Amino acid sequence: MDISFAEPSVPESGAVVVGVFVGGKLAPSGAQLDKRIGGALSRAIAASQFKGKKGETRDVLAPPRTKLDRVVLLGLGDPDSFDLLAAQAVGGAAYAALAKAQAAAILVDPVPGSMLDAPETAANIAFGATLRAYRFDKYRTKLKAEDKPRLKRLAIHVKGAPAARKAFAPLGELAAGVYVTRDLVSEPANIIYPVSFAERAMALRKVGVSVEVLDEKKMAKLGMGALLGVAQGSAHKPRLVIMRWNGAARRDAQPVAFVGKGVTFDTGGISIKPANNMWDMKWDMAGAGAVVGLMRALAGRKAKVNAIGVIALVENMPSSTAQRPGDIVTSMSGQTIEVLNTDAEGRLILADALWYTQDRFKPRFMVNLATLTGAIIVALGGVHAGLFSNNDDLSEKLIAAGKASEELLWRMPLADAYDKLIDSDAADVKNIGDGGAGSITGAQFIQRFVNNVPWAHLDIAGVAWSKKDTPTVPKGGTSFGVRLLNQLVADHYEDA
Ligand code: BES
Ligand code: MN
Ligand code: ZN
Repeated sequence: MDISFAEPSVPESGAVVVGVFVGGKLAPSGAQLDKRIGGALSRAIAASQFKGKKGETRDVLAPPRTKLDRVVLLGLGDPDSFDLLAAQAVGGAAYAALAKAQAAAILVDPVPGSMLDAPETAANIAFGATLRAYRFDKYRTKLKAEDKPRLKRLAIHVKGAPAARKAFAPLGELAAGVYVTRDLVSEPANIIYPVSFAERAMALRKVGVSVEVLDEKKMAKLGMGALLGVAQGSAHKPRLVIMRWNGAARRDAQPVAFVGKGVTFDTGGISIKPANNMWDMKWDMAGAGAVVGLMRALAGRKAKVNAIGVIALVENMPSSTAQRPGDIVTSMSGQTIEVLNTDAEGRLILADALWYTQDRFKPRFMVNLATLTGAIIVALGGVHAGLFSNNDDLSEKLIAAGKASEELLWRMPLADAYDKLIDSDAADVKNIGDGGAGSITGAQFIQRFVNNVPWAHLDIAGVAWSKKDTPTVPKGGTSFGVRLLNQLVADHYEDA
């Protein structure tokens, strides 16, 4: 979809969106249009009891005295609480109402009492519409044209169009990052496996990210026995991908680092999963997918930061070469791991990926994203991701960035008493606890591979995939983490 910004005017044809506040009060440009067409809009508002609730829409078809196909009434909610996220949500709702239109325009007025000026409002409406417009239907060969969205051009009319265009530019790059992640997460595991995933990451070179790919031989040389143990059951060879964006004024400025779990399919291995819902395990690479999308966003908007993205890519399969429950592997850190459950594989690959990242890059912090445990879904459902961290300052910054980007985090505990649960009789550590506190013991395991660096682990198993549309996130891969971590970087880690 092509988004453009223009000064206030009402187009001759197509669909036009006008804002309505709670109580059914038309925003000024809508009120003007209403006058021109003999009060058709206010009559429609009254007749249909349109309340103007945030994101509520109503079509007024073939309005009189114009050649417009329709006017879409768009609820803006309470002007006093109209903020950035409200603008994005109404933008998403507007897109959903317009998807089948050929061309459309949105008339944006300043919202009285809002902290946002009109250009910012317009930019965030455009961002919300772009996020909602994502589709993954490339394998739907029999979809009829009329069942597909048609909207190709969306014009946003606002006083101060150049400022709106400028405010939208970084948001458009962020949306491009979100799309990259959603594409990766949505693809099935016969298309996205470690080697093909790494190839998609390499495409970031064209936006200025340097990309290095380690194959199994290089990883063996580095001693990554934990990662390689997971990979050894699959015909698909593992990869470790290192992405670097150098946007800071000083090339040698200490980087921030993001690490992703990229299990392109998780059967559970020999500790095999039940058949029902196993298909969900195609998105067990959502952490890695988010890291790639984040790097795409940071590079696209030329963020003034040095950022490292590291993703561990494996497929977890049962086979005659697969690792067995009880196997003991040696991680890059030197610590030995007793693998009691081959389905607790995410922590094994992260152990080596995190060790490698801190060892090589000495980052300011490391944040890892992983669809790590079913237990976090029990605890937090699809609302918050679990946050585990050794650092209060980083945690607070992450939680705040989550609220600002609508990707919410809830902090969970780490403690010695949980750490004891993963002591092994046969090796330095075992990869499962005693059955209780499953998300926490997973986090404790990862922490054993983190030295003195601020670190946070985001367990995104509950939030990486959604079964229903929300205003800015269509059902499917959510790309959780991309907006959150872009916000974290923008708020705290860029050069002034
Ligand atoms: N990838 C799964 C976790 C998961 C479950 C993600 C459901 C998304 C939806 C992970 O590798 C896993 O299998 N975890 C086990 C750990 C257990 C064996 C300690 C789990 O949660 O059951
Ligand atoms: Mn698993
Ligand atoms: Zn997994």
